[in-house]
Amino acid sequence: MAQKTKMIIDKDFRIAEVDKRVYGSFVEHLGRAIYTGIYQPNHSSADEYGFRKDVIELVKELDVPIIRYPGGNFVSNFFWEDSVGPLEQRKKRLDLAWRTHESNEVGLGEFAKWCDAVYSEVMMAVNLGTRGTADALNLLEYCNLDTDSYYANLRRQHGVEKPYDIKVWCLGNEMDGPWQIGHKTAVEYGRLAAETAKAMKQMDDSLEFVVCGSSYVDMPTFPQWEASVLEESYEYVDYISLHQYYGNQQNDTADFFAKTQDLERFIHTVIATCDFIKAKKRSEKTINLSFDEWNVWYHSLESDNEEMDKNPWQTAPHLLEDIYNFEDAIMNGLILITFLKHADRVKMACLAQLVNVIAPIMTEEDGSAWRQTIFYPFLHASKYGRGYALQPVISTGTHNTSNHTEVTDIESVAVYNEEKEEVTIFAVNRNVDEDVVFEADVRGFRGFQVKEYIVLESDNMKLVNSSKKEAVVPKNRTDYVLKDGIFEAVMKKCSWNVIRLGK
Ligand code: AHR
Repeated sequence: MAQKTKMIIDKDFRIAEVDKRVYGSFVEHLGRAIYTGIYQPNHSSADEYGFRKDVIELVKELDVPIIRYPGGNFVSNFFWEDSVGPLEQRKKRLDLAWRTHESNEVGLGEFAKWCDAVYSEVMMAVNLGTRGTADALNLLEYCNLDTDSYYANLRRQHGVEKPYDIKVWCLGNEMDGPWQIGHKTAVEYGRLAAETAKAMKQMDDSLEFVVCGSSYVDMPTFPQWEASVLEESYEYVDYISLHQYYGNQQNDTADFFAKTQDLERFIHTVIATCDFIKAKKRSEKTINLSFDEWNVWYHSLESDNEEMDKNPWQTAPHLLEDIYNFEDAIMNGLILITFLKHADRVKMACLAQLVNVIAPIMTEEDGSAWRQTIFYPFLHASKYGRGYALQPVISTGTHNTSNHTEVTDIESVAVYNEEKEEVTIFAVNRNVDEDVVFEADVRGFRGFQVKEYIVLESDNMKLVNSSKKEAVVPKNRTDYVLKDGIFEAVMKKCSWNVIRLGK
């Protein structure tokens, strides 16, 4: 058995209130995310608008407050006007990012309606790849204005009287990436982002803007990109984006789990860069972080590249359909804990993506919708991780992995929901060899009892779910002790743990 872990939590050790938008997600016009994902008029569960009700139910279960749309790389050559108005007049287009055919059967209006059905807000991205400020303004007028003017009237003509009132806007996508259609240098992009946000604010000053940070931490231009972009745009934007996907290509589970050390460093560096520009500009304003793409993504990469190469211009092909295993779920739990530990600066995050494309929810065209392994840590965090993130005081053992040193055995954070009088401890034992005795001092929560102790545990790291069988599902454990305010349990190696305490 590895060294015992001791944690102390207290109501007064607050990091910050968790912004519920940290449980956001992402739907891109990519693969089967839209067509045969959220939308399939010929499916037995389809509603009057063609949306799959089985998918709606699963999204509602996850309780996702905000969903980024319509891309991703797709947005950089997206002509939003083609996606609104009478169906028969919509232009069919070629999407260059994923080399697929886009029918535009589902567009802005349909997506906004679907978001209402799942109780989510839209986080809208504008095309700053092949388009610019003027088109972003037209789109904003169409979406948010109640004026007697061309694009607001066009929306009314399309049968939508009330503006969509979209609050959060992403200024392009991954503009640092050479793969991006309309890729730019940091200064080119920073200027364009600043001028676009400035003009859009003039139309509606209640908006919040996310400017593009780096596409991933190993981009050669990171973090100078962030510094240069913010030099140009600091006054006009509110958040900077971070994107990061992880994989276990080496089949080295211990090192895979250690990668949230890299994530920590990524977050720290972006915060430091934002605050450096803040200091340089003598600004009172703080830029927060929007981690608007995160997940595990590697299982499908090779076959997808081949498919796009050999069979371009298909409609809704099977792309990025990673089938997640048990260890991927644990990794996602570690990522969520890391975000909560930075609740003071990470205000939004989007699990990328939501349906069929690197997603927690999968659909069978002729069958059901089902939950991947990664569904569960997200579900638990979204359900029980609302309130104040508490600063964990932890002493835990450490281990080394092939590429990381002093990796903590237990990663943990707690969230206190004052209103519900509940506190939830989220913890991962990322030691792949040994169970760990976990002790939590919760004396600060007088009179609290354990309501539930939920776990994901398995000896088989490669266990997957499918439409036929959900092999990875949470279980409840009762073999713990809570005595005189001290909780104790043995956390299994490679496990996700959710300890809910309340009155
Ligand atoms: O989520 C899949 C893709 O990953 C997105 O389109 C892009 O922004 C990122 O590279």
